Amino acid sequence: MADMITKGETMNRLIHRAVRRDLARFTDALQRFTPGDRARATALADAFSRFDTMLTHHHEGEERNLWPVIGDPGAGHVDDVAGLTTEHESIVAGLATSRDAFGRLGTSASAADAGAATAGLAQLREAAETHFAHEESEMRELCEAADPAAVGAAFKKMGRDASPAEGMWFMQWVGEGLSGQDAAAFNATIPAPVRMISKVVAGRRYAKVQRAAWS
Ligand SMILES: [Fe+2]
Repeated sequence: MADMITKGETMNRLIHRAVRRDLARFTDALQRFTPGDRARATALADAFSRFDTMLTHHHEGEERNLWPVIGDPGAGHVDDVAGLTTEHESIVAGLATSRDAFGRLGTSASAADAGAATAGLAQLREAAETHFAHEESEMRELCEAADPAAVGAAFKKMGRDASPAEGMWFMQWVGEGLSGQDAAAFNATIPAPVRMISKVVAGRRYAKVQRAAWS
């Protein structure tokens, strides 16, 4: 069971890495944005929409599958889980502000909407950093205090309740740019044939969206 928790914790850390990476990229791309550049504005809106789907799926999956298990009154961590949920609400608020701004930017390509997107991202980054630091320091303890079989089942479910298209994109997103121990951990968690299918189905499109947004 410790192995299941380690796998779940590792995947959580790699997802956080992908979120942090993309938030930094969006921020950087907006700093370099030239008002009126419609192609870049559309590309950024597209990339943000996909990022939004990934992050939303991640925290909704935690709330749906993992929180009921680690927040079970028998495990004695109800307050901790309430705190994690409050942090998710801050992420949801930052996402909503950013989503509106990127949506408008995609059609206007205006300096004002680029500024609004930058402000939304700053809000989102702060909320995400606070929450990720909390999860990364306490998740293991919370999982170890809960029913081991239920924790194992929750982590499995979190990996399986995405649509097939989302799942294929997710693997490209989390797997992008991994090296060393991170790559080894990812490869140990996602079987090679699944990674291959993801590459075939989503790899080219994923690379194209990335190039259009920040190259
Ligand atoms: Fe979370």
